[in-house]
Amino acid sequence: MNAIYPGSFDPVTYGHLDIIERAAKKLDHLIVAVLNNPSKKGIFTVEERIDLLVEVTKHLPNVEIDFFSGLLSDYAVKKNCFTMIRGLRAVSDFEYEMQMALVNRKLNPKIETLFLVSDSKYAFLSSSIVKEIAQLNGNFSCFVPKVVEEALKDKFKGGL
Ligand code: PNS
Repeated sequence: MNAIYPGSFDPVTYGHLDIIERAAKKLDHLIVAVLNNPSKKGIFTVEERIDLLVEVTKHLPNVEIDFFSGLLSDYAVKKNCFTMIRGLRAVSDFEYEMQMALVNRKLNPKIETLFLVSDSKYAFLSSSIVKEIAQLNGNFSCFVPKVVEEALKDKFKGGL
């Protein structure tokens, strides 16, 4: 089975990587798809997010990194892949995730969303939290791979 793991990945964290590794083990092929949304500016450009994802998944031969613009349901048609992977960290994720899964299935009934429960180590972890700690000069080395840590330090050096 093939699947798409869509997200912002601004930037990829160990929480994302855990989902990618676990999903990749169960799948023939996993496409990690970064949303390119010009109206929602992130810290990293889409190209930078892709580069970081490529770097941290290079040990996973059945994982491909790509990006998409517009609706995920249109991207699913383009890739001819209708299974979505999403991580669930806590009950607080549930409402948003359920809404997305239902909307995507309404837009295209072929789309199914499969949820992987986050490892408890990463249940509190998000890209936003990591960015906040990085911006405030805290230690966030246990939340992201080294290459992401360096990239974040680089972004915040000298302040934003
Ligand atoms: O990592 P995120 O920010 O939680 O990922 C959210 C994402 C990118 C999966 C979601 O916002 C998305 O699919 N956006 C594309 C637009 C779309 O298809 N919207 C309708 C379904 S919610």
